[in-house]
Amino acid sequence: MKKELKINYDQYSSWNDLSESDRSLIESARVVMRDAYAPYSKFSVGAAVLLSNGEVIKGSNQENIAYPSGLCAERVALFYAGSNFPSESVNTLAIVAEGDLVPLETILSPCGGCRQVMVETESRQKKAYRVILVSQNGEVVVFKSATDLLPLAFGV
Ligand code: THU
Repeated sequence: MKKELKINYDQYSSWNDLSESDRSLIESARVVMRDAYAPYSKFSVGAAVLLSNGEVIKGSNQENIAYPSGLCAERVALFYAGSNFPSESVNTLAIVAEGDLVPLETILSPCGGCRQVMVETESRQKKAYRVILVSQNGEVVVFKSATDLLPLAFGV
């Protein structure tokens, strides 16, 4: 039997088309991105998580000379949220990036490892959360659920 997977998302040509709350979350991600520790890739990533209590948790990528010891911005933010606000749920996650690694018009798309963590965060809280991805030239895509980014995820 042949089956098909569809990925649903909304696309905007500019983040100015988003709500005030979403724009402010993107701004938080952009601010934290400036302090990324990325001396090896020279690619800075910022992630901002809006929690159910209104708190905004921010994370940037943290690299290490032993390369696999570093961690992506999304996981830094989600693990901080899980550690310090275990009873709050994630409402929205915004991710931004800056650097030559990807073309300006390419939407920063989270790596597979981060997607797995994003999906499990969603399944733990039993509630979908929105994911906002932004390109360096300001285009935006919005997913209604982290699971949309990783169909057939392992174990959940
Ligand atoms: N990176 C992230 O922080 N998030 C992603 O979704 C993709 C990649 C980081 C890891 C590394 O520090 C740099 O970007 C280049 O891969």
